[in-house]
This record gives sequence, structure tokens and C-alpha cells, in this order.
Amino acid sequence: MNNFYHKNIISVEELNIKDLELLFEKADSMKTLVKNSGGDKRLQGKIMAALFYEPSSRTFSSFISAMQRLGGGIIPLNGMSANTSVAKGETLADTVRVFSAYSDVLVIRHPDPGSLQLAAKFATKPVINAGEGATGEHPTQAFIDIYTTIKILGKVSGLHFLIIGDLAHYRPTNSLIMALTKYKNVTISLATPKQVPIQDNLRKYLQKKQVNFAEYNDFEDLLPEADVLYVTRVKKEYMSALLYQKIKGSYIVDKNITKKMKKKSILLHCLPRINEIHTEVDSDPRALYFKDQLLNGLFVRMALLDLILNK
Ligand code: CP
Repeated sequence: MNNFYHKNIISVEELNIKDLELLFEKADSMKTLVKNSGGDKRLQGKIMAALFYEPSSRTFSSFISAMQRLGGGIIPLNGMSANTSVAKGETLADTVRVFSAYSDVLVIRHPDPGSLQLAAKFATKPVINAGEGATGEHPTQAFIDIYTTIKILGKVSGLHFLIIGDLAHYRPTNSLIMALTKYKNVTISLATPKQVPIQDNLRKYLQKKQVNFAEYNDFEDLLPEADVLYVTRVKKEYMSALLYQKIKGSYIVDKNITKKMKKKSILLHCLPRINEIHTEVDSDPRALYFKDQLLNGLFVRMALLDLILNK
């Protein structure tokens, strides 16, 4: 059953394992479609508005590519705050009313907490969260990360995820951590500089879900046990210059780190990477951030648009 049809995708909370399985099955078929013919016309006559109030390379472009590969049309607005009537003071509520009239699905990235819920309240078409604020979610990135893990390691249940970096301001890992709680026997190790631990509400969420998780400041001893090492960027744009100076470069993954990882493990980063993974690691076969993880962004978003727009 397609529970995505005409639904908003604001939080991973809204989906269950069966929904994710359907999404991933569809993503497999999208991969085959792109490989065999580049795409098809199943979304012909549908329009996607991509309303990005914050910078993006991957999320914006992969959604655009996904829609076009399925024959749909696009309203691509990367730079909402500067280049649209938002610059004249138009509210988010009014903006989504307008773009609901012109399109069939709205993909929105916004810096403010609660903005995606607000958008969904006023939109008359499905809204997809493409990243909300410093402390919100980025659900489609989590779908990509889980799909990538399943494709390479064969499963999620039973795996040990070691997630490192500035987790106080990282919406992709907020969604990933929440999504991981849907799988059985997952171990979640969260290593952060002491100034930027996970948010209290996420800690409470994990406690309530009774998952096996722990917080650390050092991560190297965990490397031999981890199946997935997920590295995050320090989100300079969401903190004071003083805090940034204190924590930048706290964790750098280089060959000395990767040699402690399991042979059968994967290294993920949803990008952009600044300096937290040394370029010498890029050619490691376990490093998937410029390979499967990036490409799967297209297939998963094609699958999501098809499921939302076609019953
Ligand atoms: N992974 C990700 O969200 O990248 P962008 O900020 O470039 O969209």
C-alpha cells in the first residue's frame, strides 16, 4: 500500500518500516530506469516547486534532476530570500499558498524551526521537507543514508552506527538517528565535542524508544566495532565565531582513523565536506560519499516523487 500518495513528508516519524521498504523498492526500480533509458514520462503534466530559503547543492539539484528524469516540470527557486517576493516581505504562509496554485508538490528548505509544519498547514499540495533549521530534520537525506547502508551492508538491524561531529546543529543526523530507532538491535554511538552534544529533545526521544545509544567525546576506540562511520560538518553558519574557532577541526578522519575501521564497514558523509574527512580517504572503497550515497540521492528522490504524485 502506497502511504506516500499526496502525503507531506516533514518528519521520519510519519513513516514506518513498510513505507521505507516500499520507497527503497521503488528506488531500486529508478536506478534500473536511469541506467536503461535515463528516465520516462510518468510525471508528465506535474510540476514540482523547489523553494529553497537556504543554500543547497545536492538536495536542490537531485530533486530537480529527479523530477525532470520522470518527465515532470519544475519551478526551481534556489535563493528564495533574495530572488522572490520574500525579499519584499511576503510570509511563508502566503508564499506556499501561491506555489500551491502553480505546482503539484512543494519541496522546501527553510532556516526557521517549525517552518515546515507551518508550510504544510497553508499548502494545498504535498510538502516535502528538504531541510529545516539547525535543530530540525532532513528526512530525505536519512532515507538516502539508510538505503545506501542496506545496499552495501545488506541490512540495518543489528548494525552499530558511529556518528561523529557537531550533532547539535545537524538535521540530517537528527532524521537518521530517529529513523534508526525503527530497526531492531541497532547500536547508536554519538561522539561530539563537548560544546555541541545532541539536542535534549533527541536524547529524550532515544530514551523513550529504549534504543541502545551512548554519547562520547572521543570516538577512536569505537572504530573497530562500528559498521557505519557517519561524519558530519561543523555547521559554522549556525554558531558564534568563538564556538566555531573552538570546535573546528576537533575530529578529522584521515588514513590513521580509517585503518582502525572494520574491513566490512562504510564511511558516510552527506556533504558538503570541509576538512573533517581528509581527501586521502576519498579513494578508500568504504568511503561512499562521492559514490553510492550521492547517486542514491537521485534514485530515492525519484522514488519519493513518484509515490507522492502517483497512486
Ligand atoms: N546533503 C545535503 O543536504 O547537501 P546540500 O546542503 O548541498 O543540499
